[in-house]
Parts: sequence; structure tokens; C-alpha cells
Amino acid sequence: MSSAFPQLLSPLRVGRHTLRNRVVMGSMHTRLEQLDQPLERQAAFYAARAAGGVALIVTGGFSPNSEGRLEPGGPVLDAVPQADELRGVTEEAHRHGAKILLQILHAGRYAKHDEVVGPSAIRSPINPLIPRALTKGEIERTLDDFVRCAQLAERAGFDGVELMGSEGYLINQFTARHTNTREDEWGGSLENRSRFPVELTRHVREALGPDFLIMYRISAIDLVEGGSTGAEIDLLARAVEAAGADILNTGYGWHEAQTPTIAYQVPRAAWTFAAARLKRAVRIPVIASNRINTPETAEAILARGDADLISMARPLLADAEFVNKATEGRSDEITPCIACNQSCLDHIFTERVATCLVNPRACRETEFSNGPASRGMRIAVVGSGPAGLSAAVESARRGHVVTLYEAESQLGGQLNLARRIPGKQEFEGLLRHFTRQLQLLSVDVRTRTRPTPDHLRAQAFEHVIVATGIVPRTPQIPGIDHPNVLGYIDVIQGRVEVGRRVAIIGAGGIGHDVAELLLDDGQAHTTDKFLSEWGVDESIVQPGGSTAPHPAQPLRELYMLQRRPGRIGAGLGKSTGWILRSRLKRNHVSRLMKSRPCSQPRVDNALARAGATRIRCAGLQWSGVPSAASTRTTRFKRTHPRLSESGALRQVARLN
Ligand SMILES: Cc1cc2nc3c(=O)[nH]c(=O)nc-3n(C[C@H](O)[C@H](O)[C@H](O)COP(=O)(O)O)c2cc1C
Ligand code: SF4
Repeated sequence: MSSAFPQLLSPLRVGRHTLRNRVVMGSMHTRLEQLDQPLERQAAFYAARAAGGVALIVTGGFSPNSEGRLEPGGPVLDAVPQADELRGVTEEAHRHGAKILLQILHAGRYAKHDEVVGPSAIRSPINPLIPRALTKGEIERTLDDFVRCAQLAERAGFDGVELMGSEGYLINQFTARHTNTREDEWGGSLENRSRFPVELTRHVREALGPDFLIMYRISAIDLVEGGSTGAEIDLLARAVEAAGADILNTGYGWHEAQTPTIAYQVPRAAWTFAAARLKRAVRIPVIASNRINTPETAEAILARGDADLISMARPLLADAEFVNKATEGRSDEITPCIACNQSCLDHIFTERVATCLVNPRACRETEFSNGPASRGMRIAVVGSGPAGLSAAVESARRGHVVTLYEAESQLGGQLNLARRIPGKQEFEGLLRHFTRQLQLLSVDVRTRTRPTPDHLRAQAFEHVIVATGIVPRTPQIPGIDHPNVLGYIDVIQGRVEVGRRVAIIGAGGIGHDVAELLLDDGQAHTTDKFLSEWGVDESIVQPGGSTAPHPAQPLRELYMLQRRPGRIGAGLGKSTGWILRSRLKRNHVSRLMKSRPCSQPRVDNALARAGATRIRCAGLQWSGVPSAASTRTTRFKRTHPRLSESGALRQVARLN
């Protein structure tokens, strides 16, 4: 069968194994171990991705000893009973034709517990705890712990291990001058700083033999002061290759780096230049990673010869069937990862289990029924924002007959606002995806229609799902009626002229999005522009690969006003809020708080944003709808897009 993705779908021989295609599921710590029945849940999570066609799965990081855990209770693999329990996970991956590696991750100075250690006693800016410098004896013992962990992985049925040498974790801390000031054989010269990863790879190879796959995740660019140069990274790559690594995976930027590496602001495949450099340095297969979320992007990277394999982590949270759909010529049906981080990384950072904004079934594989409903019903969905679209698609997929009502001429609700924000163009793809699904599932779509209770009653729907969303609340501020005060929806939709000096009232997510829009210069968001704005040196001549940032000249003078005390934008997502705050700072946006005395700025326009009110739905008395005993009405309690999709799925799951 001819394919649009000949490179992506071609097999690859690695070591003594054959991978069925070029798609690697990147490592993700999901925190599933914190829930009841953790092993069943993990087995189901990986089984879904293996059944979805991925060639090689890498698990989330397991620490080789208790010091290396990221947090108390974090996953460790240091004993035989644990290895035996993990058999269920590897068997599921193998049953569906995938290979599976266990990632060994020692957090080093990023650990958030009392046993925190590192090559040197240098604190990380993102951890209040100062690490204790490992003694020479402890370094040897740590290497043994890694080897024991790899042996246990083999016992559990894993095809190999990934040694996590990037993102600023312990191995990476040894390789960078920045964190390794040792004066013994484990620090100082490049050879000494490389000793830990090289010895580690050699020890694992010697202990596990030639059949066991060893993947080394190298930091292809550190993005921190005192990080490695490109030439040093190339030498390290060759040294781990010589020590026995079969595959080189790549990571970009340490966790403490001040450059975004995976958020939606990062253009697709922006870091591939660093993987391509390593591909030229070694003979073993190299994996490109980060923000590669379509088969088209992946195919182009392979076709250019920039990498041999493609790692996708979040895209496989968003759609477990990614590879099958690409194989079957249905790539337009792939649910796209929009790189929002809201339900995956932000959950992990706030001690919750990961899932996915666009696929709430992710990490809930054992909870939601996926097959057809026992009885097809006639269902009306009112409102076509993310919740309504999701409810309509999911209901139709499970065999119900669905009518979707939308008051506007266009489907999408708030998605139509989100997709206009610079850097949030991925939302466009999400809307396209939903629209295509509605078509394929023959959902009866009625735009420009506000259904009345009489209409719904007359249609004899058995279930009505109300997903009518929100309207902005107008704050009661003197002067709010002045013609220069604008609403954010009009501004985002380009329906009003905005002056050069603007005050934005409200500093939450929407306030920040509006600021991004008003500062945007209208130029395409290319990789070159992104790398230049954030000061990334593609040649990696400077240690760490950072150079002076070149932000675009701000187009406007902005003031952001926040009534609440505390840091401006403190409620933004953990993994993306700092990016927005740092862009505003660079654009000289003045941020004012009510609690802080300030002079009143003179501005051309004020943009009011003060929370949202649920739409009451044009006079519909929802309590009046279910006149027939068989009709039930569901109103989403929370209408914010963050929760609405999973809310939708939960509602639909009940319609069995
Ligand atoms: C929820 C979550 C957990 C992650 N945990 C790990 C991990 O344990 N080890 C690791 O090497 N990378 C981890 N990563 C990073 C991913 O492997 C990957 O580098 C990153 O998500 C960018 O790739 P993507 O755009 O394909 O998602 C994690 C990412 C996410 C979203
Ligand atoms: S939550 Fe957002 S970033 Fe995370 S996998 Fe889903 S779409 Fe991608």
C-alpha cells in the first residue's frame, strides 16, 4: 500500500531488534502510580498506545534508588517484587507489537525531598533544597544502582532502558560545568565530566549483554549558563555510542532554562536543528523530539535526514491511535495535541494525575467505556464550544443520534477566540478536527439556531446536553460606559480599532492572551523568529547555546491591572505562565495592582475583563424542558474549556 508517510512508517533495525516504524512514544511520568490499581491503569495506558501502532514506548522515569526520586512517593525500581509487578505492563505492550523501554531517571539536585544529592552542592534555582555532593564511593554505588535497575527492567520484560541524560537531571548535572565543580576524576575536564554517563552506559551494556537496548537521552542543547557547547555535546554523544548505546534520544533545555521548549509558543519541530547536528556526529540512530505533533511534520524531518526516529509524547496522550490513523490514510482524523500543557504537565507540576485537554480518556483508560452504548438515543447538544463539540462527537461515536445547535454562524465558540491569539494557532487544528468528526459521524449540525424548549420537546430528544458557555462579565467601574472602553471579544475578533496606549483590566489568562494579541507584529511565527526572540544560538558555540535575545519592538504601550493582591498572573498555568510573564516584561508592559499605590496611566483604550457569567440561554427555562419522563437535561457545572471536555466525556459515558 502506498503511503503519504513512507519514511515514518518504514521499519528500522536497532541493535538486535526491529522497530515496526519510526514512531517512539516519549517518556511521560503520568503519576498513575498515585491512584488505586496503578499497575492495571499503567498497563491499559501503554496497551492503548501500543495497539495504536507506536513502534517503541518509553515509560515515565523510574529512579534507580530513593535519593533519585523526584518527590517522596515517586516511582523507584530497586527490588524484585516491583519488577515482577511490572510484567503486566510489558506483556501488554508486546501483545500489541510494540517494544518497550523503562526510563531510568535520577533527579539529582531537582529532587524535592531530604535525600537530595548532586555532583556538587550547588542549589538549582527551581528547588529550595541544597543538594549534598556525592562522595566518590557514593558515585560508584549510584552507578551500581542504575545497573541493578536495568537488570530489574530486564526481569520485568522490558526490551531495554532509556538513560535519562537531559533536562538537567543528575547525569546532565555531571556533564555541565555549571553544576559540576568537582576536582576529582568525576569533574573538571570534558573527559572527567563525561565519565558518569560513559561509565554508566558501559556498565549497563556489560551487565545486560548485546540483546538489551540502551537508549541514551542526551541534552542536545542545555539552554543554561555554563552548559555544554555543541562540540562538547558531539564528543559526549560519540563517547556514549562507543560505550554501548544503541539509540540517541534528544532533550532540549534544562527544567530551569528561561527558554520555552515544549509550550504552544514553540513552533513545531523548532529544536530539530540540534538533533540534526547529533545525527551528523554519530552512527547510531538519532531521535528528534519536542513539538512534533503531526505525521506530516515527522515525515519531513525524516525525509530531510535530520533524524532516524521521531519521539512524540503529548501527541500520543492526545490520540493513542495516532500511528494507525496515519497508516490508514486518516491523518486528518488525528486529535491534535495543542501544546497547552494544561492537563498534562500542569497536572504533574501540581501533584495531580496527568490527562489531556483534548482527550480526557488519556490516563483514564480503565474508567470510561469506549465501545458503543447499549441503546442508541436521540440527543441534542446545545452550544458548539469545546464542551459541546466534544459531547456531540463522543455521543455520535458511541452510536447515539445527535443534533448539535449553535447560535452563531460558525462552530467553535471560544475556540474561535483562542485560535486568533498569536502562538495559539494549534487551536485552529482542533476546530478542524472536530468539524471533520461531526461530518464523519453524520451529526446533524444546526448553526444560527437557538433551540426553544418547545422545539426540543417537539423533537422528542431523550437527552439534552447544555454547553452554552459563558459571556464576559462587565465590571461595575465608574466610566465603564465610555466609548473608549472595549470588550475583549470585540478586540480579539478585530471588530474595533485599538489605540497605542492600552490598559487591560484583569490579568488572568484572557488578559494575558489579549496582551499577546496587542503586542503582536503580525509576522509569521517561524522557528527563526522564535529562536532569535529567545536568544538561542543554533550553532551552540556558546556554552549552553544561549545568546542575546532579540525581542520584536513592542507595538503598543500596555498596562495590566489586577485587583487581587499577589504576583500578576499567578493563576496562570505553571508551565506556561512564566513564558507569558517574561514576554510581557520584555515588552515593557507595566503591571499594576490595586494594593500597590500607582499613578493612573493615561491610555487610549481600556479593555475590560472581569470574569465570566454562564449564558442563561436566551430565555430557555431548562427546568421546563424535561416534560417527558424520558428526557434528561445536563448542564455543565463548569464551562471553562479546561474542564469542559472531560465534563463532556463523563456526561456521555453515563448515557449508556
Ligand atoms: C506529563 C509529562 C511528563 C513527562 N515526564 C517525563 C519523564 O518522566 N522523563 C522524560 O524524559 N521526559 C518527560 N517528559 C517530557 C517528554 O518526554 C517530551 O520531551 C516533551 O513532552 C516534549 O515532547 P512532545 O512535544 O512530543 O510532548 C514529560 C512530559 C509530559 C508532558
Ligand atoms: S493537555 Fe494539551 S499539551 Fe497536554 S497532551 Fe493534551 S493537548 Fe497536548
